[in-house]
Parts: sequence; structure tokens; C-alpha cells
Amino acid sequence: MFGSNRARKTAAVLTATAAAAATALLGAPSAAAAPQPIVGGTTTTTTAYPFVMQITDASQNQFCGGTLVSATKVITAAHCMVGETTGSVRVVGGRTYLNGTNGTVSKVSKIWINPDYTDATNGDDVAVLTLSTSMPYTTASYVSSSDTSVYAAGTTARILGWGTTSENGSSSNQLRTATVPIVADSGCQSSYGSEFVQTDMVCAGYTSGGVDTCQGDSGGPLLIGGVLAGITSWGNGCAEAGYPGVYSRLTTFSSLVTAQVNS
Ligand code: ARG
Repeated sequence: MFGSNRARKTAAVLTATAAAAATALLGAPSAAAAPQPIVGGTTTTTTAYPFVMQITDASQNQFCGGTLVSATKVITAAHCMVGETTGSVRVVGGRTYLNGTNGTVSKVSKIWINPDYTDATNGDDVAVLTLSTSMPYTTASYVSSSDTSVYAAGTTARILGWGTTSENGSSSNQLRTATVPIVADSGCQSSYGSEFVQTDMVCAGYTSGGVDTCQGDSGGPLLIGGVLAGITSWGNGCAEAGYPGVYSRLTTFSSLVTAQVNS
């Protein structure tokens, strides 16, 4: 089934560090939270979030998410597009279920990957796809480069995707969503050290973990006030205490993205 390496685009996942050990020593809650949606969250639909796109292989097997920002442009993660070609990917809109056959399937005529991208943990994790077929769905607006105040610590952000519902679990057949608080850059720096590139990344999650994006959610949206402000990028495991999810900080890439959206 998900045999190919495109099935789960895994941005470098950090191994547990001394910080994790320290967290354990300080005493994690004794009862592990039951595995839940995205990880933690609820089911939703592409009717509720029409701009959430499945990014699939040519056989329509989903491996990443994306956000429709104009009828023919989709923002996703650069790491989702590594090794892909215009012929190897499709974008599927209006399909709530992975095993559905409804909605609109489009071929991709151009893949723009941020030319500075090397690895998700180095930042620059943004790509823009140009669709061959227009999507008849409501688009999302995205932050402009001056909107940097949206990332104030504690602000509620919404995450969406079909990814795994626990760290080593399986994907959700139905689109899921959850809300998570934006984490202060200083806090994310404490979690990830130099892997956290403040200019290019923003973190979101609870100190105690439990709610997060996970494998297969990459490329999908982090919305703040309904506006696309982040792109699911990487994390240490999923929903672990002390390790928030890391999202591309879209304000940094907004002008670059706009050049592609208008091209
Ligand atoms: N790299 C993953 C993907 O390709 C996303 C991981 C997000 N991880 C997290 N803990 N928030 O789907």
C-alpha cells in the first residue's frame, strides 16, 4: 500500500534528546493520553474547509496536504515535493475521505520549490504548485509579510489534515482538525535548539503535548484567525510533551509565494 517513499514524507525527525529524558524525570502524566485525531482533535469535512487539498500520487494516494490560495495555486511544503515531478503528483479538492472518489482531481503543470530549501529542519520549507485544472472551491487567504504579529504566543491556531492519529499510527480516512496554541520562539528554541530557525519556523502545541500534526499532515495549513499563517513541516515525534509541532513561518515567505501565485 504505502510502499513508496512518497507515501509518508518524513522531514528529519529528531531523536529523543537529553531534554526528553529530563521531561521524563520531571514526571510525565502517568496515564498516556489515548491516541486521537490528527493527534487530538475532531473529524471535519472539505465542505467546512474547502481550501484544504489532498496532495496525492498519480494513483490518488494521499501523502501530504496543501492549501488552495487561488483557483490554480496550492501552497504546500517543499519537503513534500522532493523527488516529485509534475507527472508524479495530483491535487485533489473537495474530497473529505481518503478512500473517496469525489471532488476535483487536477494535474500539476509546475512545481516551484523554494530554491533555498535543503531540509525541513533548516527552514525554507515552502512550495507552490500550479494546477492544470481550476479548483471550484473557496480559496484561503494567506498572511502578508508584515503580518508578523499573528504569531503572538498563546494565539489559537487551527491545524488540518489526514495524517496519522498517533506517532506510529495510521492515517485518518476522514479529514481532521484541531486547535493548538502558538508557542513562544524562546520556548521552541528550548525544545529544538539550533534546529529551530526562528526566521523560518513557528511552533504550536501544548506544553503537555497531546494535540499535534503528524506524518501525512505535512504541507497542510496552520490557520490563525482563518488565514493561512503556517505550513505543517516537522517535529520530534508527534504530540510529545515538550516538543511542539514546527510550521513554516509563512510571513517570511509571503512575497516569494505571491510572486508564484501571480506568475
Ligand atoms: N513531516 C511530517 C509530514 O511529512 C509532518 C510532521 C509534523 N510533526 C509534528 N510533530 N507536528 O507529514
